[in-house]
Amino acid sequence: MANLALINGPNLNMLGRREPDIYGAQTLKDIESGLLEAAYAAGATATCYQSNAEDELVSLVQQSRDNKIDFIIINPGAYTHTSIALRDAFLSVDIPFIEVHISNVFARESFRHQSYLSDIAVGVISGLGTQGYELALAAALKWLEATKPA
Ligand code: DQA
Repeated sequence: MANLALINGPNLNMLGRREPDIYGAQTLKDIESGLLEAAYAAGATATCYQSNAEDELVSLVQQSRDNKIDFIIINPGAYTHTSIALRDAFLSVDIPFIEVHISNVFARESFRHQSYLSDIAVGVISGLGTQGYELALAAALKWLEATKPA
């Protein structure tokens, strides 16, 4: 059974209230419960985390290996554009991941065009709204099926 983690970074706990013209009306709880339901329906398990703190996100990625996580779906929020520590954490655990952004970061300020994670991710989903998380789950399950058939 595939074991996934959903990790959301800083300010994503504010979804629903935060710049709804950019990020939409769904709360993080809505997103997490939708993803958990879809994972269970597909015969997988998922665990959801959110933190505003860079060191906690690094620790979550590190602990994912001990927790036997097969795949991580992450929206690193603003740490996407700044965190070498998060990049190093992913390199140290060697767990495949998809980087999700609700907004189209390439249609926004130039500082959002840089990612410390994209080149080591399996893939990136940006600009498709909160459905990006569902699309990432479907892609992660397909990727696992293709690379680690049951
Ligand atoms: C974001 C885009 C980031 O640039 C921003 O800092 C966020 C959210 C997104 O989901 O579109 O916090 O990751």
